[in-house]
Amino acid sequence: MAMIFPTFASLYIFFFLLFFSIFDMILVNGENQDFMRSLDSNLLDLKQEKLTHFRVYWHDIVSGHNPTSVVVVKPPANSVATGFGVIAMIDDPLTIGPEMSSKLVGRAQGFYALASQEELGLLMSMNFAFMEGKYNGSTITVLGRNAVFSKVREMPVVGGSGLFRFARGYVQARTHMFDIKTGDATVEYNVYVLHY
Ligand SMILES: *[C@@H]1O[C@H](CO)[C@@H](O)[C@H](O)[C@H]1NC(C)=O
Repeated sequence: MAMIFPTFASLYIFFFLLFFSIFDMILVNGENQDFMRSLDSNLLDLKQEKLTHFRVYWHDIVSGHNPTSVVVVKPPANSVATGFGVIAMIDDPLTIGPEMSSKLVGRAQGFYALASQEELGLLMSMNFAFMEGKYNGSTITVLGRNAVFSKVREMPVVGGSGLFRFARGYVQARTHMFDIKTGDATVEYNVYVLHY
């Protein structure tokens, strides 16, 4: 009897520990599954990816009483001639034609920063927020490098919302007009975007 009791006790402890470690693993796995799970893409109605192209004109107005582009970080006193270090916040109108008076279809909201020491090279970080028809409320996000003196500048579309969920693609920017006196600019944006 004196021999059996310790054996029984250690077996009991062994099974007790085994039971709780398995129970623990189930608990942890269960928690993981609640926090992250795979979905059938049909549930979100993600069927055929579409390619959409559109052209808008982006108006960067720095002059006058109602600028749509304002410098929020000035160049440091010892900065190079390319203005490296400047940051401007924008809420630029997007119109269907090159004239400001043409139909407004959205706004480009975000900022650009002078990110090059060697040339006028911008980092663009902006959302195109559409206001027209079925696209009203949908956005695409453009994040890229814009060497403004190049004829065509290509920047990635890194995402989108609303009708542009899961968006990817690119834009091509071409300067349509630059007023040396005021600094105002109009840029043609051709957008190519894959989305569902
Ligand atoms: C876009 O949506 C907003 C908010 O829902 C609404 O106030 C506005 O009238 C809509 N604009 C157009 C052009 O449909």
